Amino acid sequence: MSKIKIKTPEEIELLKAACKITSQILTAVGDIVKPGINTEDINTFVHKMTLDLGATPATLNYKGFPKSVCTSPNEVVCHGIPSKSVILKEGDILNVDVTSIKDGFFGDSSRMYFVGGRETASKEVQTLVDVAKQSLNAAIKIVKPGAKFGDIGAAIEKYISKQDHRYGIVREYTGHGIGSSFHEPPQVLHVGKKGTGPTMRSGMTFTIEPMINMGTWRTVLSKIDEWTVRTLDGKLSAQWEHTVLVTRDGAEILTEY
Ligand code: MF3
Ligand code: CO
Ligand code: CO
Repeated sequence: MSKIKIKTPEEIELLKAACKITSQILTAVGDIVKPGINTEDINTFVHKMTLDLGATPATLNYKGFPKSVCTSPNEVVCHGIPSKSVILKEGDILNVDVTSIKDGFFGDSSRMYFVGGRETASKEVQTLVDVAKQSLNAAIKIVKPGAKFGDIGAAIEKYISKQDHRYGIVREYTGHGIGSSFHEPPQVLHVGKKGTGPTMRSGMTFTIEPMINMGTWRTVLSKIDEWTVRTLDGKLSAQWEHTVLVTRDGAEILTEY
């Protein structure tokens, strides 16, 4: 028996509204990410814009997370805590992960930003960011009623293995069902075997959020703040996340720009 919720049309409308707010915030963040700003500045901006749009930042006080957004530069895989002491410089890459709550529904998405512009990053780094995004798109392509959740991880693995790079796909952190709760069944793995796992049905909503590392997939959790996740080898990591809906014949990206 599956615990995965099928959302009603009314619930889907509410989820869409939350996702739209998240997407608007991520687009606006693109204009403020510049050399010299610190990640606390991004937090202040996201917090204020969320409230201005009539929503609430989901991460603030979530399981003790202290800020309104996750900011994860360079070798930080995810769950970076905004801080005045993290000052961005030209050539850095940054993941910003926003989750907004609107009328009780959660919209969760993240994007990558090039600090100082795309050209300030090396070709190698640009490729990592691009490949991470394309791996998310490859996964979204297989989403439709009747597909299995394991097909998502299989699609990402297949896409990554076709690249001419020895990238690692993070295993410990996954996508998740989403709706009137932040994280609900199923767990959406970014590695997997085709034909395994629960079956997708129209009306299911979940995130896909692959974290792709330049080196090993292994990560370490900061002993200092117990949130910040870094690559074990200190190499760079890139992540893109969308909230998606299973439609009658495919997928709709709810956090599309
Ligand atoms: N937005 C993250 C996700 O994609 C979760 C962040 S939880 C936090 O699931 F506590 F770290 F903020
Ligand atoms: Co998520
Ligand atoms: Co997220």
